[in-house]
Amino acid sequence: MKTLERNIRIKQVAESRIHEVDMNNIPFGRVFSDHMLIAHYRDGQWQAPEIRPYGKLELEPSISSLNYGQSIFEGMKAHRGPQGEALLFRPEANWKRLNRSAARMCMPEVPASIFLDGLQELIRLDQAWIPAPEQGALYIRPLYFATDEFIGVKASETYTFVIFTCPVGPYYTRPVRLLVTKDYIRAAIGGTGSAKTCGNYAASLLPDKLAKARGYDNVLWLDAREHRFIEECGTMNVFFVIDGTVITPPLSGTILPGITRDSLIRLLKDHDYKIEVRPISIYEVEEAYEAGYLQEAFGAGTAATVTHIEAIGFGGRDLVFPPVDQRPVSQWLGQQLEALKSGTAKDPYGWRVKVE
Ligand SMILES: Cc1ncc(COP(=O)(O)O)c(C=O)c1O
Repeated sequence: MKTLERNIRIKQVAESRIHEVDMNNIPFGRVFSDHMLIAHYRDGQWQAPEIRPYGKLELEPSISSLNYGQSIFEGMKAHRGPQGEALLFRPEANWKRLNRSAARMCMPEVPASIFLDGLQELIRLDQAWIPAPEQGALYIRPLYFATDEFIGVKASETYTFVIFTCPVGPYYTRPVRLLVTKDYIRAAIGGTGSAKTCGNYAASLLPDKLAKARGYDNVLWLDAREHRFIEECGTMNVFFVIDGTVITPPLSGTILPGITRDSLIRLLKDHDYKIEVRPISIYEVEEAYEAGYLQEAFGAGTAATVTHIEAIGFGGRDLVFPPVDQRPVSQWLGQQLEALKSGTAKDPYGWRVKVE
């Protein structure tokens, strides 16, 4: 066990498990890298974090996150750069979003010295686990949950913050089919839709399962009040191209403020695309489809990257989008984003952060 200047104790694995992984054929989210970072909050303060071998946590069944859902997470990726270096993409944005989710879920802030410095240290240690760009990337999961052993609905006084990682290939291996439903909602104004909290995902499982049974990949969520305005998808924000204009819903408080979404809006603006961030109703999409103006639709997310939408099921039929090779905007965005992340394009925004 050694202690670094950053005050992170490190206990390394005796032998790496990396040789067990076929990096050319990585299943998403099933293989975990050698180490994890763990930090505890108690007595009103954070304790020094530790990096140790990835493995089981010992928890009592009474802990408040298991019983009352006080639990949040993040999703980000490390990419391998042209010189073999480890590159993070906008990690500060994930750190800030985690703390916004924490505020909503009545949890204390996680300091940068734990989230950002801990991340640097963990990725430096496990950088061999970052797949080559053509194979994928290293998915990073910061997870933060309440640990009071107490039955009763109240904010916990103790917490655990963990970062673990897994090498991944693509999340979606083909364009997706989305189903619009009016039977369920994902989030309502004043709720927790803009927080990355576990319950939001649990609540989406049944509607997603019903959509899958009908031959779709996921639900495309509408607003809770009017069942009219498009919100997002379970793992990604959505964009449409209608008659040459890119349109994406605004951050209304009910959708996750995606870091990919934000990056794509910036790229589009800076390259003089027509981009509108405004409410877009499913009826507008349907009308554009009827009129022949509906050109592209895609999802945007860290896991999903830029994912083409093949069709949207609505009103008993499929609105089918043009073939992928006829989608210049999403093709361009996908390439730009990947090049920025993996270090093959200039980064005027300072989004890329090298692991030192
Ligand atoms: C519900 C939801 N919306 C959008 C996104 C996209 O967010 P980001 O681009 O930050 O990954 C995600 C993925 O994390 C998500 O889970």
